[in-house]
Amino acid sequence: MASETRRVTVLGAGLMGHGIAQVCAQAAGYDVTLIDVKQEFLDRGMLMIRESLAKFVAKGALDKGKAEEVLSRVHPTLDLAEAVGRAQLVIEAATEDPKLKLELYRRVSEHLAPGATLASNTSSISITLLASATRSPENVAGMHFFNPPQLMPLVEVVRGAKTADSTVEVVRAAAKDMGKETVLCKKDSPGFIVNRVLVQALNEATLLVSEGVADPEDIDKAVMLGLNWPMGPLKLLDYIGLDTALGISKVFMDEFEDSKYRPSPLVKQMVRAGLLGRKSGRGFYEWGSPSSTKASSGR
Ligand code: CAA
Repeated sequence: MASETRRVTVLGAGLMGHGIAQVCAQAAGYDVTLIDVKQEFLDRGMLMIRESLAKFVAKGALDKGKAEEVLSRVHPTLDLAEAVGRAQLVIEAATEDPKLKLELYRRVSEHLAPGATLASNTSSISITLLASATRSPENVAGMHFFNPPQLMPLVEVVRGAKTADSTVEVVRAAAKDMGKETVLCKKDSPGFIVNRVLVQALNEATLLVSEGVADPEDIDKAVMLGLNWPMGPLKLLDYIGLDTALGISKVFMDEFEDSKYRPSPLVKQMVRAGLLGRKSGRGFYEWGSPSSTKASSGR
């Protein structure tokens, strides 16, 4: 049975936000408002949704008419007050910057309808901290999707220190509406479950590059064939975005105060150089188009 959630607002039309909005409209049939701070970000988000829908249509998983219907359920806007005020569930997928997010939570909280749920797609920032910027921390939880949200079947549901049981249930039920499997993080711990495991593995892969142990293609090939990963760690880093991965490592360093989470100097340097991965056109690989990858020479 579908949950009571029907109207969802997604904050942020970027890599994760557009995909979450699409899943809300496509799999759950929700009425979705997609909000960002600039028209060009919204336009790019809507374009990414169109491109993803076209992929589903091309492989016969969705008919053209249905794809149009999905698109018509996603309403882009720049008006935060209106977008937040009408939502039963707000899913925040803004940039992984604690300062920016805290300010956003304070503003969202001013417009949130009584009893509405505010869920964060943060990968690593404390849900308890984000909730502390709102008037109703009991209505705030983590709802962590994986990239690309249109395909990845998992959502981590995260309980903050003050999250109510009913909020956990709203988020779980919404994830189910979206056709996702859920796991519950009972404690609000940095990186939750998956990123705690993943960040260490990705960091080791970048150290193998900087130590000259192997080339990126061989590292990726080794992990794909040796561990059966669908994508090697360096390609995955390009996919996630090196800046996002670096942000997660920094949160781990701060929160755990343990040097084992120190990001590799190579990743820091690449971020400084704007080599962020797929989104910037180059990271460990050249990204002419999503399906054509070649090892980049300039790391
Ligand atoms: N929308 C719809 N369909 C899509 C799509 C999208 N955005 N992206 C890819 N596809 C489809 C393609 O159409 C293709 O379909 P068919 O096989 O039916 O033709 C299929 O997916 C494979 O796509 P590609 O050929 O482009 O292959 P790819 O390797 O570039 O990407 C992938 C496919 C699903 C991403 C796969 O490689 C994969 O599972 N990679 C690992 C992803 C992963 O680990 N994600 C987690 C990241 S960690 C994270 O997100 C957490 C965090 O906080 C950082």
